[in-house]
Amino acid sequence: MNTFHWKVPLGGLSGQDNPMLHEAAQLLREGELVAFPTETVYGLGADAANPAAVEAIFAAKGRPSDNPLIVHIADRSQLTALCRNVPPLAERLMDAFWPGPLTFVLPVRPEAVSGRVTAGLDTVAVRMPDHPAALALIRQSGRYIAAPSANRSGRPSPTRAEHVLEDLDGRICGIVDAGPTGLGLESTVIQLEGDVLHVLRPGGITAEQLQAVCGEKIHVVVSEGPAPAADAPSAMREASDEQVNRVEGQAVISTPDLEAPRSPGMKYTHYAPAGQMILVTGERPQQVLAKLQQLVNEAKQQGHRTAVLAFADEVPLLTADVVLGCGADGQLEPLAAQLYHALRFFDEAGATFIAARGCRRTGIGHALLNRMEKAAGHRIEQV
Ligand code: TXA
Ligand code: MG
Repeated sequence: MNTFHWKVPLGGLSGQDNPMLHEAAQLLREGELVAFPTETVYGLGADAANPAAVEAIFAAKGRPSDNPLIVHIADRSQLTALCRNVPPLAERLMDAFWPGPLTFVLPVRPEAVSGRVTAGLDTVAVRMPDHPAALALIRQSGRYIAAPSANRSGRPSPTRAEHVLEDLDGRICGIVDAGPTGLGLESTVIQLEGDVLHVLRPGGITAEQLQAVCGEKIHVVVSEGPAPAADAPSAMREASDEQVNRVEGQAVISTPDLEAPRSPGMKYTHYAPAGQMILVTGERPQQVLAKLQQLVNEAKQQGHRTAVLAFADEVPLLTADVVLGCGADGQLEPLAAQLYHALRFFDEAGATFIAARGCRRTGIGHALLNRMEKAAGHRIEQV
C-alpha cells in the first residue's frame, strides 16, 4: 500500500475547504486508516462505527485486542448518541478543558461504535482534540473517529509525521502532516466514580488543574496502571520478565499498587526505546548528574553505545556517545514536547544504554515521569 502524505500548512486551515482534508475525510468514511496530528501526539484514525476499519487499526499497530481506543469528536453534540449519560461534573470539566488533552471514560451506547473500540467494556473513552487539522478532519468525516497513538505497539508515541511513517509507512492509507505536535505527551484519561475522580493515565491536564475545577467535595486520585498481572497474556509477561532480568545493581523496580487494571492500556509495555534505559531520580542535581555519569561510564566499559537525556543546561557537564538536553527543572514543557523524539533519536543513533534524568513530580512532571518510568521498564535509581 502507498501511504498518502498530505502536508497541511497549519495557518491554512481556517476554512473548511482544504482539498487535502476533504480527501482524507472521504477515505475515513470509506473505512480507510488515516493518521492525523493532535495537540498531544499523532493519532491513527478510523471510523469508530466500522468494525473492519477498527480491526485494521489493531492490525496496523500490532495492538493487543483487549486495549480499547479513544473516540475523537469535534463537537459536543456528538456526545448524545455516543454516551448514555454525561454527569454534570464531566460537563464542567469539558467546559474547562475541551478542546484539549483530557479524555473522559463514560457509559457507552453500544450501538454507536464497534465493540472492538471499547474492547467489550460498557464504557467508551472520548476526547475533543485541540488541533485545527484534527477538528476539521473529524468534522468533515461526519463520523466518530477512533484513534490510538499512531505508533507500532510498544514504540514511543509519534510527535512528528516522520515518526508515524517510520512505524506505519505502507501499512496505512495516509497521513495528514501538520508538523510537530505541541504538548508531546498523551491526554489525561479520567473516570468519575461517586465522589472520586480517577486519573487513569496522567497527561496534559494535571491533577491540580482537575482538582481546581472539581472543588473540594471531589477527590482527584491518580491511580496509574498496575504492573502486569500473573494472568496477563503471555506475550506481555515475557516482555516484562525480560525487562526485570535486565535490572542490575541497586536498580529498583517500581510496581504501582493498583488492584485492577482500570485502564487496560496501562498494563502494557510502552514507549520503549530499543536500548536499555534507566531513570535516575533525586532531589540534588549534582548527585543525579554524578549517578548518570557513573552509569554511563560503567555501561561504556561493558561495550555499550551510551546516551544521556538531561536538562539543557546540564549537557556540558555530561559525557556519553550521545547527550541530549531539553527543558529545565522549572520548565518541563520542552522536555515533554521532545521526550518521544529523543527516545526515537537514541534508537537511530544506535544507543544500547540510555541514562535519563527524572524530574519533579509536579504539573506535567507527573505525566513525564509516568512515561519515562515505562520507557525504562521501571528500572529506576534513586539518589
Ligand atoms: O492524546 C491521546 O490520548 C492520543 C491522541 C491520538 O488522542 N491517543 C492515545 O490513545 O494516546 P492510546 O490508544 O494510545 O491510549 C488510550 C488509553 C489506553 O491506555 C486505553 O487503555 C485507555 O485510553 N482507554 C480507552 N478506552 C478506555 C475505557 N473504556 N476505559 C478505560 N480506559 C480506556
Ligand atoms: Mg498509545
